[in-house]
Amino acid sequence: MKKIAVITSGGDAPGMNACMRAIVNTAWQHDLEVIGFRHGFRGIVEDLNVPLHPDDMRLVSQRGGTFLKSSRYPEFREVEVAQKAAAVLDSHGIVGLIVIGGDGSFRGAHHLNQYWDGQVIGVPGTIDNDLAGTDVTIGFATAVDTAMDAIDKVRETAEAMARVFIIEVMGRHAGFIGLHAAIAAAAEAMILPELEPQPKLAELADGILQARAAFPDSSYVVILSENLWPGGVHELSKNLSKATGVTCHPCPLGHIQRGGRPNAQDRILAMQLGAAAVDAILSGETAIMIGLEQEHVVTVPLHLTFERDKPLDPRLVQLQLGLQGVNIASKGDE
Ligand code: F6P
Repeated sequence: MKKIAVITSGGDAPGMNACMRAIVNTAWQHDLEVIGFRHGFRGIVEDLNVPLHPDDMRLVSQRGGTFLKSSRYPEFREVEVAQKAAAVLDSHGIVGLIVIGGDGSFRGAHHLNQYWDGQVIGVPGTIDNDLAGTDVTIGFATAVDTAMDAIDKVRETAEAMARVFIIEVMGRHAGFIGLHAAIAAAAEAMILPELEPQPKLAELADGILQARAAFPDSSYVVILSENLWPGGVHELSKNLSKATGVTCHPCPLGHIQRGGRPNAQDRILAMQLGAAAVDAILSGETAIMIGLEQEHVVTVPLHLTFERDKPLDPRLVQLQLGLQGVNIASKGDE
């Protein structure tokens, strides 16, 4: 039997387990044996191998995180480390490696491809949705649901107490979670890395003061993408409190956004992409990512997924920006 290997790498994402189920089951249907390496690229280098069989995959799809474990492993950029990984893969007679991960993991996969003769296939698994060549990544939809639920909860207490909250969401350097969560949770303002120009402190303060004047008894929620405001959500809240004279409460959502049971959309996406990754190995492809564009499974050269930018949907940005001020404006018309 030919052998293939799979790893989950970088930040875990809900749906990674469902993806492994699809990979293992599809592979066995085609008489391919599957080995997993625990903890991503580090696990290959340290040979933390574990055989994967369809019997073990029956009840994994429902679980968040990754049962195969993951890690961040910057050492993999070094040539000798990638060569060591290639030697370990060869020692097991592995013909193809499937990497489920995000941008850093695909850089690693691309690097490995320079030193290893086997096939390397990427499957996009990251809550950030920041990979070009696919409309969606595994874990994004669940992370948005989780952020929305959390913001809804903050909103209830904010509304009860007529408070202002600045809620920080994840996304590394991309505003996908921020934008989708802001729309879904009907936020009054959003600050995302892609916004040009970036909102200034004075404008944000003005928005809060106008809302306070129009609706003194109501809540106000600002969504802030992480890594954006110097000093983060705490500093912005302090600055806004000072500028407005209204206490602004910081609320970083943090890693809660990475956990939780994958929603149906992520499980189905993961199964589609995982099965297609095995098909790609069977048809001899290498150095590609499997993506989903306009509901169709597509293949994209691996390097393009991290070399090209992935823009936000401008219609969604306009929708949110356009609706943010409508309540206050309508109050002014009364
Ligand atoms: O890439 C997923 C992600 O959750 C980002 O949104 C975030 O910036 C980063 O990982 C956090 O990484 P870590 O868990 O290693 O601190």
